[in-house]
Amino acid sequence: MKKIKKIKDFNLKSKKVLVRLDLNVPFRNGKVADNTRIISSIPTIKEIIKKGGIPVIISHFGRPKGKKNNNFSLKKITKSLSKHLKKKVVFCKNCIGPDVKEILNKIKIGQIVLLENLRFHKGESDNCGKFAKQLAENCDVYINDAFSASHRKHASIDKITNLLPSGIGKNMENEILNLNIFLKKPKKPLTAIIGGAKMENKITLISNLIKRSKYLILGGGIANTFLKANNFNIGNSIYEKKQLLNVIKIQKEAKRNNCFIILPEDLKVMDNKKIKEISISEVKNNHQIFDLGKISLWVISKIINNSKTIIWSGPIGYFEKKPFDKGTNQIVSLINSKKKIISIAGGGDTIAAIKRNKKIKNFNFLSTGGGAFLHWLEKFSLPGIEALKKN
Ligand code: 3PG
Ligand code: MG
Repeated sequence: MKKIKKIKDFNLKSKKVLVRLDLNVPFRNGKVADNTRIISSIPTIKEIIKKGGIPVIISHFGRPKGKKNNNFSLKKITKSLSKHLKKKVVFCKNCIGPDVKEILNKIKIGQIVLLENLRFHKGESDNCGKFAKQLAENCDVYINDAFSASHRKHASIDKITNLLPSGIGKNMENEILNLNIFLKKPKKPLTAIIGGAKMENKITLISNLIKRSKYLILGGGIANTFLKANNFNIGNSIYEKKQLLNVIKIQKEAKRNNCFIILPEDLKVMDNKKIKEISISEVKNNHQIFDLGKISLWVISKIINNSKTIIWSGPIGYFEKKPFDKGTNQIVSLINSKKKIISIAGGGDTIAAIKRNKKIKNFNFLSTGGGAFLHWLEKFSLPGIEALKKN
């Protein structure tokens, strides 16, 4: 297995550098709603330019499923990217073929090119060798700086590394460094907070965290599924029927590993159009659970106080809608008030919730990854990192 190369290991003078970024940013009302991923890509682009190379940026945007679709055009990102770089970005309407060739033949050192959405071609998600070859043919070096997309074994992440001298960019380097420092041998007791709607993609992670954590705090739709499996009435709240048996297995596993699974004791529910805060035993058939109640948050604060490391992924309530953001916001403030606790969070919604609070400064690391962050927590690596080790 080879050591992964970094930008500093390459001579990039006059080289065209195919740089894989994750520019899959949320859009609202025609504007970039959260620019975290754009901002974290800037140092790599600047470094390539500083070393005399020409950045040829590739990325996916949304899930257009192998077909051209203007709603998912990366052209929308050009303005924001250009603003953050304080430089013009040349947009190319395809990511392979003659359009790319034409632009790259004319391009000069100091200029930046952004190619159209990789996922307009099926070859990308199929990890197709021919598609990777078409991507590689106009460039000299490949840099992966898309940590948050590196859990996907796609052509621009995996196959491409067989075709060009390859390495990682600065954001990727930073992610790997921080996650390794804080989470490979975490300071104990370790508490994991897992929220969000879906348990389906988090089962292996949860089973895995149980072996490493003293406390596993559950929130959101996942907590509902656990409550339902334990015969609590959760009214009309969302839950995953298919996961009920898995809950029982996970609880047994937790007991064997001395991990305490923390479920809500009280909740904020909607009762017709009224908001009520009630204990779990008071939930009626017509209620919908949307957030944790005061007692649950008090229990969580005690657990946080007794932890040395906190890993957090997924909001614990319906945080997009006030006042159901209160539980998530309170956890943000709680963790932020504990300077001595190592705190790592990941996932688009979680980071958005954390960043809404302008005074946040004590989180040790915020990962740009959503699915990738969860995958890393499970395997301590990603397919994109493994591909570079073989390259
Ligand atoms: C993300 O937003 O999590 C990454 O950009 C990956 O996107 P995907 O889930 O569509 O592969
Ligand atoms: Mg995702």
